[in-house]
Amino acid sequence: ANGRRFFVGGNWKMNYSKAISDVVNKALNNTKDVDVEIVCAPPALFIQEFVASKPAHVEVAAQNCYLAKDGAFTGEISPEMVKEAGCAWVILGHSERRTLFHEDDDFLKKKIDYVLNKTDVNVIACIGETLQEREAGKTNEVVERQVKAYQEKIANDQYSRVVIAYEPVWAIGTGKVATPQQAQDVHEHLRQFIGKNATADVAKSIRIIYGGSVNGANCKELAQKPDIDGFLVGGASLKPEFEQICKARQ
Ligand code: G3P
Repeated sequence: ANGRRFFVGGNWKMNYSKAISDVVNKALNNTKDVDVEIVCAPPALFIQEFVASKPAHVEVAAQNCYLAKDGAFTGEISPEMVKEAGCAWVILGHSERRTLFHEDDDFLKKKIDYVLNKTDVNVIACIGETLQEREAGKTNEVVERQVKAYQEKIANDQYSRVVIAYEPVWAIGTGKVATPQQAQDVHEHLRQFIGKNATADVAKSIRIIYGGSVNGANCKELAQKPDIDGFLVGGASLKPEFEQICKARQ
């Protein structure tokens, strides 16, 4: 074992119904005895409802937050509010935030700085290249730039509060999963790169998870790769197969 606890995140995105919540809770109830860290991220409005209904071993994340405690920021929620609602985690820099809502590296750097230094909320920090960037041979360059922006604000003793989610944009919601080797190659490269900006211990202990069309059928093979420490799951995190994904390393 490499000492890194397998981590599975379920990003519900802008999806919620009582039926979904029932399906997810049923799947989660079957993961109690599994050695895996499970974190689900419902839409902000439903966080408290999920906190009240989820099994105890499951943690909760917000899908986004702002970088102040309170104030005149219409439509935003603060990391402090996220914490109060029962979240131990927040997802930052998801590609949908970057693309649709124009969040850039500079803004995300400020967000991770606030969350890590002003609260004790943990961060799932997302990165990933587009299809165009991959085809231009720029994958490593892009993920290095994105991860470096976060790293500028992460102190060496804060890496235990951070999980890096590598989500190639072309694999998100497309059914086109990265091959285990494609994902492994980027994760291995990232681990080295992160270590260079931090320490060898950080490189060894940081969890790098994969996201993009992970499902019950492809998760086991991905989970075999030495540098894939878990998943960030969208569509399949709303289905019964989320149970299999949580058990991918078993
Ligand atoms: O954050 C998870 C994600 O973007 C992947 O979505 O639906 O391809 O699993 P999906």
